[in-house]
Amino acid sequence: MMPAAAAPALLHLERVSRTYDGGRIVALRDVTLSIHLGEFIAVHGQSGSGKSTLINLLSGIEIPTSGVVSFEHLVSPSAAAWTALRGRRIGIVFQDFNLLPTLTAAENVEISMFGQPGGAAVRRGRALALLEDMGIAHRSGLRPQELSGGERRRAGIARGLANRPEILLADEPTSNLDSATGQAIIDLLFDLHQRGHGMTMVIVSHDPALIARCSRRIRLLDGAIVEDTSTVPAWRPAA
Ligand SMILES: Nc1ncnc2c1ncn2[C@@H]1O[C@H](COP(=O)(O)OP(=O)(O)OP(=O)(O)O)[C@@H](O)[C@H]1O
Ligand SMILES: [Mg+2]
Repeated sequence: MMPAAAAPALLHLERVSRTYDGGRIVALRDVTLSIHLGEFIAVHGQSGSGKSTLINLLSGIEIPTSGVVSFEHLVSPSAAAWTALRGRRIGIVFQDFNLLPTLTAAENVEISMFGQPGGAAVRRGRALALLEDMGIAHRSGLRPQELSGGERRRAGIARGLANRPEILLADEPTSNLDSATGQAIIDLLFDLHQRGHGMTMVIVSHDPALIARCSRRIRLLDGAIVEDTSTVPAWRPAA
């Protein structure tokens, strides 16, 4: 009897490299990595080691120079397929916020919900609830330039969660936050991970307390993985 095919990884990178400037800058170097449903992964490493590049490849915002990225059974998703995945299944918290300057904090959160059921009132209600969770509901009507760095960060986290993603890719979500607010955000991420079906988390962080709590830690150095505490072998797409 044939053994049952192993379930695919949620996300898989097979020998992925990303270079810039005609190959002179190597941001990510020959990375093979499987991310499984329900993991809580910390990605760490010094500045310039490739953390943001990795996050951008996992969300399809960047395309590898060589190697293959898969999402479940989708091997090298098209640009349209990545857009659909970002609309419905992947949430992203950007390192530099990426908030639209002409929209209020609430509107910035609402635009993540256009792929979801519900009308304008539902979107507004959910945006305000998320901003409330982040402690900035009273700032919901302000535009990004009227918010502090920490408030922008929190608006960016609210937006990343707005589409109820199955996997959240968060690039330094607790930087620019005071320690109490940072801790509250970390607790919220762990709560989302543990609650219900459990959100899969990939969090870039320098925070030793957050890194220590994660079930898996990946360290990058010069674009390569130099440490991965996973005990599960990498999943391989069928040849
Ligand atoms: N669009 C780009 N063009 C040229 N070089 C780039 C580009 N994006 C990233 N790089 C380079 O790739 C390397 C990795 O960058 P990346 O932003 O992934 O690092 P990082 O680990 O996120 O750093 P930090 O902790 O400072 O955010 C760096 O040397 C960076 O300068
Ligand atoms: Mg970065």
